[in-house]
Amino acid sequence: MHMLHNPDLLITKAKQILALNWNGHFTKPAPSLYPHQWNWDTGFIAIGYAHYDITRAITDLSHLFSGQWTTGMLPQIVFGQETSARYFPGPDFWQSWRSPHAPRQPLTSGITMPPVHGLALWWLVEHSEERQATLALIEPLFPKVVALHHYLYTYRDPHEEGLAYIRHPWESGTDNSPVWDKPLSRIQIDKAHLPAYQRQDLQTHDAVHHRPTDTDYDRYVWLVDLFRHHNYDDTAIEAHCPFLVQDPLFNAILAWSNECLVALGGELGQDMRELLEWNELTIFSLNKKLWHPAKKRYAAYDLVADEHLPTHSTSAFMPLIAGAPDLHQARLLLEQLDSAAFSGTAASPTWLYPTFSIKHSAFDPKCYWRGPVWININWLLYQGLMRYGLGRHARRLKEDTIELLHQFGFCEYFDPRRYSDTQKGYGTTHFSWSAALCIDLLSH
Ligand code: SER
Repeated sequence: MHMLHNPDLLITKAKQILALNWNGHFTKPAPSLYPHQWNWDTGFIAIGYAHYDITRAITDLSHLFSGQWTTGMLPQIVFGQETSARYFPGPDFWQSWRSPHAPRQPLTSGITMPPVHGLALWWLVEHSEERQATLALIEPLFPKVVALHHYLYTYRDPHEEGLAYIRHPWESGTDNSPVWDKPLSRIQIDKAHLPAYQRQDLQTHDAVHHRPTDTDYDRYVWLVDLFRHHNYDDTAIEAHCPFLVQDPLFNAILAWSNECLVALGGELGQDMRELLEWNELTIFSLNKKLWHPAKKRYAAYDLVADEHLPTHSTSAFMPLIAGAPDLHQARLLLEQLDSAAFSGTAASPTWLYPTFSIKHSAFDPKCYWRGPVWININWLLYQGLMRYGLGRHARRLKEDTIELLHQFGFCEYFDPRRYSDTQKGYGTTHFSWSAALCIDLLSH
């Protein structure tokens, strides 16, 4: 890599951010915008800690799993004790106590997120200098992660296809991606019946242009209200929810985590037959159901309308991380990542990779999941490219990722227009997973 800057300095700064966001119990995603504990953030953060503080990673993950429901569902948010922490929707809005399966403490949200935790446990063991000691530390978490996968294959897979559905855009992790616009448009808001609420996420400069719209939020709130109304009963929600989607990002992460659990289970002397069966079915269905032969990439599937959704986001490439595509499919995916839609042109290249096609009318270079570069998505795609031996592409992606962090700081997301005057980081600063994944990328 021909970087002008000093990687050690960047690693030092990244560790300072994680230290700042550590509150003694868990690592917040950011100092003020996200003041509680978030599900997949904790997994990505552990991947950074794997290189220097395994104990903290285990404490962090254990706190997250203290919020696990008895069904195995792992909530998207586990609320901390700080009463001054302002976030919407907070515990009073979620009312997780309506479910007989939710813990009394800590309070949590009532939806989940992409299941990165098997992968996080594997990363901790793989990068440990004392493998046996780390295996002993992660052992208590192992059955909890298996219970999460069991929940997904039991309650979120109505056709037994090995594909878990999400029922809220917040479960995708890619909240306001244009891919969700059509299924969300089924939700017609009647303001008279929508619970009153006040957003807390518009404090940062120009946030109104960088965050989801009020219309998006109305629909997010409408869905939470539906879940509350059904006391978070999975069967009742499935019968009434207008948003039920099988997402290639979520399921590729599930498959990769299955694989990691199988590898760990071998070392822990566990019976892995169920995990192997789940995984075989997930890989099969990723290729049978989510592969879009005409688009030549993976598509999310809308279970309500019974159709594929648009394929213009980076989630369409994510099954690379799970080894799902064969070599022919992988080559097709690579051609599209190299195309003007994601890489720009020689005269006007992008920062790799915009999370939504820059050629599409819904692309917005500044708005959250409608176009900006996100460090966790780059990190995942980097792992996918490496898995297929695509080292040259992977190195370019790593170079861009590090350069963005170096030039603009540990922001939440970045403008993908490389030569635009306005190029800069958006959202919150001091963002934990940007720091953690930078540490990992620079440590290999
Ligand atoms: N990303 C969500 C938010 O913006 C939470 O999952 O609050």
